[in-house]
Amino acid sequence: MTMQRREVLNWACGACVGAVGLARAQDGLGLNDAALGSGRRFGFAIDPGYANKEPVKSLLRQHAGVITAENAMKWRNIENVAGVSDYTRADWVADTAERLGAALRGHTLAWHQSTPAYLSTATREVFAVAQTAHLQAMTARYRGRIHTWDVLNEVIDGDQKNKSGLRESVLSELWGEDRYPELFELARASDTRAKLAYNDYGMEQNEPWCERRRTAVLRMLEQWIKRKTPVDVMGLQAHLDVSRKFSATRLSRFFDELRALGLGIQITELDVRDALQPGTVSDRDAATAALYKDFMDTCMGHAAVEMIVMWNVTDEESWVNRGVQAPRRPDGQPMRPTLFDMQGQPKAAFAAVAGSLRQAAVPFDLKNTNTKHV
Ligand code: G3I
Repeated sequence: MTMQRREVLNWACGACVGAVGLARAQDGLGLNDAALGSGRRFGFAIDPGYANKEPVKSLLRQHAGVITAENAMKWRNIENVAGVSDYTRADWVADTAERLGAALRGHTLAWHQSTPAYLSTATREVFAVAQTAHLQAMTARYRGRIHTWDVLNEVIDGDQKNKSGLRESVLSELWGEDRYPELFELARASDTRAKLAYNDYGMEQNEPWCERRRTAVLRMLEQWIKRKTPVDVMGLQAHLDVSRKFSATRLSRFFDELRALGLGIQITELDVRDALQPGTVSDRDAATAALYKDFMDTCMGHAAVEMIVMWNVTDEESWVNRGVQAPRRPDGQPMRPTLFDMQGQPKAAFAAVAGSLRQAAVPFDLKNTNTKHV
């Protein structure tokens, strides 16, 4: 059999398995319903461009208990032109979450990649005024509707020569690393009910560079907490990769370390890349599902883990297959990072995640975290 024919058959076969899975899903298993069994929530990041179209629209109705704005609430998307703010898309995401009866995660108040381009050459004084005004405008506009704000995103850089373990960026330069806690203080002053999260990637798997990032983030959070920064939650993005090692023991210990600081944990951007995974589509899906299961079982075994949010709903609109900067598979095939394939059919990963959610070993429990006020 030629390679091409085998691949076509594998794709077709994958679709058959998917159709069976969809039937099962339509029998009533909603992923958020499954998560609620252990006091948690399950949901997805969405943007207006695709969330109102099928199959995403129906999948959200069936499975979403929490919604994150993938891009619509980012500063650059709100205020592309100096002084002109457009909240249309952000409002649409907030309204969609409400229509679905889902909690809303705000993403993200400060991030070097979403700082408007017009500010990249600003003075520190001008930048500080603009960042403060943006944060206050967003927290005021969505006050009462936000479950958790990602206040600050991705400031760790465990590999930089910089001893602090923090990233050098427009934000460190113009706002200042030492002033990151102020962002949380401003957010808490403006919205006393939303949980406040620090959100970052590359801390979930068992590679030396992940270890360096874990060490750096714990050091940063410890310092913040010593100075009474109102940070409630560590957001672990969990952009996983089948080609990287995973250790349930190590991840669970990291969860313990975060909880010992009084933090809750949210999994904020889950997906699994398979850029380097060889084999047929079903081989790839099996490897991906196995990692989903190991990761999810670890999360469902820890009382501090409150919610799981997928980054996108189907493989079709996943950022991994969309972005120009996204790594491609050597065979030119798109990756299969989400729970649903290009047609919105559930894959092996869906069954793995559903099983973990249903069989959660330990319920979510706020005890011993700093978030009692929420
Ligand atoms: O919508 C425009 C389109 O009109 C234009 O033709 C096209 C040309 O490049 O760009 C489109 O916008 C892109 C947008 O995604 C929508 O696809 C932007 O260029 C692109 O920069 C943007 O990328 C987003 C990225 O964050 C940067 O903001 C991704 O969608 C989004 O998934 C990604 O999400 C991040 C989280 O916020 C933080 N953690 C990592 C995660 C993945 O990178």
